[in-house]
Amino acid sequence: MASTGTHVIVVGNEKGGSGKSTTAFHLSVYLMYQGFRVASIDVDSRQQTLTQYVRNRRNWAQAHDLAVPHASHYHLPLSRSDSIKENQKLEFDLFRQAIIEVEGEADFLIVDTPGFDTHLTRLAHSLADTLVTPLNDSIIDLDVMAHLDPVTGDPREMSHYARLVQRARTERLSIDGRTIDWVIVRNRISMLPSRSTKLVQGAIEKIAVRLGCRVAEGIAERVIFRSLFPTGMTVFDPLDEEMLGGLPSMSHLSARQEYRALVEALRLPINDRTAARIAANKVLAQTAAEPTRFEHMAP
Ligand SMILES: Nc1ncnc2c1ncn2[C@@H]1O[C@H](COP(=O)(O)OP(=O)(O)OP(=O)(O)O)[C@@H](O)[C@H]1O
Ligand SMILES: [Mg+2]
Repeated sequence: MASTGTHVIVVGNEKGGSGKSTTAFHLSVYLMYQGFRVASIDVDSRQQTLTQYVRNRRNWAQAHDLAVPHASHYHLPLSRSDSIKENQKLEFDLFRQAIIEVEGEADFLIVDTPGFDTHLTRLAHSLADTLVTPLNDSIIDLDVMAHLDPVTGDPREMSHYARLVQRARTERLSIDGRTIDWVIVRNRISMLPSRSTKLVQGAIEKIAVRLGCRVAEGIAERVIFRSLFPTGMTVFDPLDEEMLGGLPSMSHLSARQEYRALVEALRLPINDRTAARIAANKVLAQTAAEPTRFEHMAP
């Protein structure tokens, strides 16, 4: 959708619990603090973690009268029909509607996908301008990208997810001649460097060459992420006690640095848009309002 001015960031990985929703939420808050209009779509109809994160933020901000920015958020309804076909049609229609509403209205659209293959996951991937794949820092988790030679660690065969992305890329190229910038982000990196950490790093680099993607250094394993979720706060919000519901730690500051480095590594089209956007759109003007409709949570 870059031609309409909305840059689409899809966060995807078929491996569950790799940090997709946490990353999606942090990216959206970071971009709002940069003065951008941000929309997000949660296509994980089962867990809806991103939606819950958005709700927690709204509730916490309202309860404590906090002036923090909120994205325009879309999610799928929970109560659906028993028919898989009907559900797919409903989900497709809602997704399409959300995309139409967002087009041109948001500078960035962030789409969080589930840890399994669905028709919407595939569709979302083919809309991506930037695809972010958080990957847990373990050899087992690399298998979701490519099957590795047990002796050399070289990628032997592309995995199901890598093939899904390749198909999305081909589709995208045939539709509007654009490519998807695919960035693997190492997540939950162990703070104690070990032999395994080095092995993972080496293997990821080989996989990236094979799959035509880039690698970003990513985020260390930090317990603060668990405590941020209930308040809907992120490492980009002001680190004061009222915001966090507790005292900030060194970990917050380090995580903020890491996320900043991560956003830089994504090479989003930020600089060319920043000046105009900040002048036109003061961040705090995006401050809280009640959700309007059940699929769309307006900022
Ligand atoms: N860098 C990190 N350090 C520690 N915990 C983390 C980190 N990143 C994410 N987590 C935690 O890992 C868990 C899974 O994260 P998250 O829900 O973002 O993953 P996901 O890929 O969206 O999962 P799913 O595939 O189930 O949708 C959460 O409890 C989150 O707080
Ligand atoms: Mg998730």
